[in-house]
Amino acid sequence: MHKIMSDLHQDHVNLAKLLTLLAQQVEKLAAGDEVDLLLMSDIADYIRRYSDQIHHPKEDEIYRVFRACSNEAGELVEALLLEHQQLPDVTLDFQKALESVINDTAILTRQELHDQIVAFISTQQAHLDAEEGGLFPLINTTFQAADWAVVEQGIQEHAADPLFGVHIMDRYRNLHQLMKERQRA
Ligand SMILES: [Fe+2]
Ligand SMILES: [Fe+2]
Repeated sequence: MHKIMSDLHQDHVNLAKLLTLLAQQVEKLAAGDEVDLLLMSDIADYIRRYSDQIHHPKEDEIYRVFRACSNEAGELVEALLLEHQQLPDVTLDFQKALESVINDTAILTRQELHDQIVAFISTQQAHLDAEEGGLFPLINTTFQAADWAVVEQGIQEHAADPLFGVHIMDRYRNLHQLMKERQRA
């Protein structure tokens, strides 16, 4: 597998861990327990900052090259490209909703909060599954070295991951610590 694909796959593994954390918060809500709104807001912030702005543009480049060299899975490619345009707003809306509850500028019932988190998880999970289970395997078997050369030229930025990378952004220190503890458990 090309390094770009293994890196993108690792991003998916990382994202899935964050979605699991969100799912645990949903369970807490359903059980009537306190939830960690700040933690969820940090997760949304990371997804906005990394998945939406760094991860998806790399995939866009790959999907465009794939579309030019293969007629396979045309609808899936178009759907994923469209989702890349829509997901930043989905993430921002989710983060805003959490922050409005944190800042007391909006009152959401537990059920409304529950539903918003569930909807966010399922949107992210569906996108991830379509890539991991649908398009990524096709790309891995279709692309030749020349295709990767085109992709490499098109990807200008290899920005560092501010949560799972070497340098952790201050905002994500709590989240990072929690992930480390979960790994040890
Ligand atoms: Fe994607
Ligand atoms: Fe992805």
